Amino acid sequence: MDRIRITGGQTLKGVIPISGAKNAALPLMIASLMTSEGLTLENVPRLADVRMLIRILENHGVDHAIDGKRPGDSLNAGQTIHFSAKNIVDTLAPYDLVSRMRASFWVLAPLIARMGEARVSLPGGCAIGTRPVDLLLMALEKLGANIDIEAGYVVATAPKGLRGAEIHFDKVTVGGTHTALMAAALAHGDSVILNAACEPEVADLAACLTAMGAKISGAGTSTIEVQGVTSLHGARHSVLPDRIEAGTYAMAVAMTGGDVMLEGARPDLLQAALDSLALTGTSVSATSEGLRVYRNGGGIAPVDVCTAPFPGFPTDLQAQFMGLMTRSAGVSRITETIFENRFMHVQELARLGAHIRLEGDTAIVEGVKRLKGAPVMATDLRASVSLVIAGLAAEGDTTVHRIYHLDRGFERLEEKLVACGAQIERISDPG
Ligand code: EPZ
Repeated sequence: MDRIRITGGQTLKGVIPISGAKNAALPLMIASLMTSEGLTLENVPRLADVRMLIRILENHGVDHAIDGKRPGDSLNAGQTIHFSAKNIVDTLAPYDLVSRMRASFWVLAPLIARMGEARVSLPGGCAIGTRPVDLLLMALEKLGANIDIEAGYVVATAPKGLRGAEIHFDKVTVGGTHTALMAAALAHGDSVILNAACEPEVADLAACLTAMGAKISGAGTSTIEVQGVTSLHGARHSVLPDRIEAGTYAMAVAMTGGDVMLEGARPDLLQAALDSLALTGTSVSATSEGLRVYRNGGGIAPVDVCTAPFPGFPTDLQAQFMGLMTRSAGVSRITETIFENRFMHVQELARLGAHIRLEGDTAIVEGVKRLKGAPVMATDLRASVSLVIAGLAAEGDTTVHRIYHLDRGFERLEEKLVACGAQIERISDPG
């Protein structure tokens, strides 16, 4: 199994191109199921999760073609992928596929909306929390679907089609909002989604659905109105830049010191995280190219953060910020309000010498002067990258195991960091 070895202590200087957002690309790819015409997505990141979702969509009969490289193209440009769900051959999403990637559960919405039936495996356990799907099912039931759970599968039917409804989420849910949006777009009549997630990835999905002929207003706010249409047509859409990738590299620069241009990053998509970063003593400034992150030799000030739905501090940057805080000059409190078990990185950071104590949903991080390299392993994508951030500042070698987590969501991580002066390499074990 591959691992990553980091020799800490280098400052980062240079340019890091920001890829298309994984968490936008996945629901956009799923939206290809909603039309018999083609959907072309540009700026799709080259990630294990994207490849996995392609396999899952193929199972339903979705064809795809990836544009070849043209002369002068660099890997920094994302892929252009053409999807065609002309004929949906199967409305079953089996356990062995859905359990490998939770987001694939979202195929339920387009399948029931377009085909009137779907049988989708419940996703099962997850390393960061229980992650139920009750709100997604509630949204579909409101829209008129009959839902049964049989042998670990959600069996949904709507033989006469879905009908518009008012859907009120009592908790903000990104996947619930994607589900409601896709299903309502093809329902008979009008829908309103209340307490909708405001995440940029929801707005990106709505923009793509609108380009496909859906009638949606208010996406990106907590109230979304949808006028159902009978069918959608083909479209071309570019995936928005990955705010979590941008925030991750910004925290890496804050950790090591240095000066990096995050090319193509959109500061407006991660303002809360940038505000927290500025309080640590890191300079962040928006430029026409993206986001410049700069920190000279000064120390890292401790800063408290509390995760919240957008526009709050993202849970997907909590582990990385904790990595940064392990070297702050004081004590910081990091509170996780979205997922109840998203502190699996704490014990691994401790292996590098971090002082972190957990009190319920809050981690109390006492900054230390030095971290020391060690072998570590992680249980999820963002936890893994927090170990990379810590390893970049630790003395000696840090080896991160189970990096398939990283490959799910960070495109060419080592290459991007090496280009800025980091000493980081992938080690592949033979066999
Ligand atoms: C999305 O997950 C992201 N995944 C997650 O990114 C991200 O952490 C999360 O949103 C929050 O921002 C993708 O976009 C593919 P939720 P999602 O529904 O949609 C509870 C990463 O590292 N809830 O917004 O599954 C849930 O348990 C990942 O890239 C219910 O109670 O998250 C959680 O506490 C990890 N019932 C909260 O809502 C439900 O039916 C928010 O979850 C659904 C959710």
